[in-house]
Amino acid sequence: MTQRTALVTGGTGGIGSAIIRYLARQGHRVATNYRDAARAEAWRQAMAADGIEVCMVQGDVSDPAACEAMVRALEAKCGPVDILVNNAGITRDTTFHKMSYQQWTEVVNTNLNACFNVTRPVIEGMRTRKWGRIVQISSINGQKGQYGQANYAAAKAGMHGFTISLAQENARFGITVNTVSPGYVGTDMVMAVPEEVREKIVAQIPVGRLGKPEEIAHAVAFFTGDEASWITGANLAINGGHYMGW
Ligand code: CAA
Repeated sequence: MTQRTALVTGGTGGIGSAIIRYLARQGHRVATNYRDAARAEAWRQAMAADGIEVCMVQGDVSDPAACEAMVRALEAKCGPVDILVNNAGITRDTTFHKMSYQQWTEVVNTNLNACFNVTRPVIEGMRTRKWGRIVQISSINGQKGQYGQANYAAAKAGMHGFTISLAQENARFGITVNTVSPGYVGTDMVMAVPEEVREKIVAQIPVGRLGKPEEIAHAVAFFTGDEASWITGANLAINGGHYMGW
């Protein structure tokens, strides 16, 4: 396997950490961004204690100028980015008739506009080197919608529109672009859903439990491997059977 540099945005979170671990285990150099330096340093040390050295760069994915600087700093430290996982995401759940413009824009900026902000500075290098892997971490709720998530579902659905356009534009350059759409995974984000609401959601999952972050990371590793060079523009649902589109 060729060692490459993989940037996983929001790598310090639940799914992001699992993706970082998986890609590191495959032998890649792994990198992530952070906003809060103290929190990030504690996380970096915990990963290092497990033998995983993560290249850390400061930068808010919702800020285009910061992302440009972040990618350049990362490339100087760890080499060109050949694998990009647009994973950073937030929720601001509330029914639409109560939603503020701020709750709308925070979610769209961090979940969807970040795909522009982070991918734009890496795409030209991938095209020049004629190799790249880009994976969007979307959501089941971008596919089926969700009560209280008009902002999040809109942004997550938009991520796959981004995937299928970028996939077409870059296929001839050895770059594949795919989406992974996780269902409800046992991360802090999902555990923040009120317990009684969460229990009702879990009851709708045919497999009968929340997902594990590693079950999402496994799919990301699949899409980013050399062998996956003919898979582009796909959207892989990993949700315990909670939503079965086709
Ligand atoms: N379908 C129909 N009605 C529903 C409903 C649903 N799915 N969910 C709630 N309601 C109803 C309630 O029964 C209640 O009705 P009554 O007033 O008649 O009792 C009413 O809606 C409550 O509405 P409110 O506007 O007052 O809502 P609230 O302020 O109590 O909270 C909410 C609403 C924030 C949406 C809350 O229900 C919630 O947190 N839902 C979960 C949202 C969710 O799934 N978030 C996922 C976060 S994790 C993630 O996003 C990761 C991922 O990718 C999967």
